[in-house]
Amino acid sequence: MLNSFPRDFTALVQGSSRGIGLALVQRLLDEERVGRVVACARRPDTSSGLARLGEKHAGRLKTFRLDITDPRQLEALADGLRAEQLRPHLVINVAGILHGDDGLAPEKRLEDLDFEQMQRVFAVNTLGPAMLCRHLLPLMATDGKAVLAALSARVGSIGDNRLGGWYAYRSSKSALNQILKTASIEARRRFKNVVLAALHPGTTDTDLSRPFQANVPEDKLFSTRFVAERLLQVIDQLGADDSGGFFAWDGQTIPW
Ligand SMILES: NC(=O)c1ccc[n+]([C@@H]2O[C@H](COP(=O)([O-])OP(=O)(O)OC[C@H]3O[C@@H](n4cnc5c(N)ncnc54)[C@H](OP(=O)(O)O)[C@@H]3O)[C@@H](O)[C@H]2O)c1
Repeated sequence: MLNSFPRDFTALVQGSSRGIGLALVQRLLDEERVGRVVACARRPDTSSGLARLGEKHAGRLKTFRLDITDPRQLEALADGLRAEQLRPHLVINVAGILHGDDGLAPEKRLEDLDFEQMQRVFAVNTLGPAMLCRHLLPLMATDGKAVLAALSARVGSIGDNRLGGWYAYRSSKSALNQILKTASIEARRRFKNVVLAALHPGTTDTDLSRPFQANVPEDKLFSTRFVAERLLQVIDQLGADDSGGFFAWDGQTIPW
């Protein structure tokens, strides 16, 4: 797999402490074509998953501290990559929030909308990934195919919205899709080898989906390992004409 990338390429995963991000780091490290994996996380030292992978793949895994909502940490990441002359061929923006311990929950009706909680969701799901594009696109490798992908969600599709609710999460992912599409148009001029894509992983068994799994049929609830494999397959198959698109874990295009 990942034969569409050059040998020994560098991949970067933003939001890698647990869930789908951690599974992507693991799958990338298992891939012989991948040289180094840069794993960004808010608190990399407290992630037992990253620690385990660091021990197993010493020298190939490099961790960076990054809260995606902190522009100074994003600048520091870019400086760190430059200093180490790491030019990724693959960047995957994974971090996202839907609910939290401090009362953050997807809204069922308009009365549930909360200004500060909406700002928080947009900061992680939309603004951070936009700034990541800003800082990392110019640093990506320029030889051969390169991909900057971000984990979106099918509920971010406006055309596919039949159930309503989840205002902040839905709209933060719709806006993320628009940012990726817009950046893909600029990339055609400035970063010609980079394909940008929004990806829907499917309902995956993680902390994010756990409170909402009750009505999900067993065969529709994916393991993080399965999803990491399928997302990397989709990424491997992306071509220049796909840039700016919105794709599900099985490669199907999702309507805007
Ligand atoms: N799971 C699903 O069914 C599903 C479905 C559709 C789309 N998605 C999307 O897939 C992506 C991954 O979701 P998941 O299910 O793996 O979620 P998860 O298990 O809850 O993991 C979320 C990740 O985001 C990180 N994160 C949160 N806030 C951050 C911040 N400010 N800066 C940096 N990292 C931050 C978390 O780090 P900490 O450990 O530091 O909190 C964690 O690594 C998300 O974008 C989500 O919207 C998931």
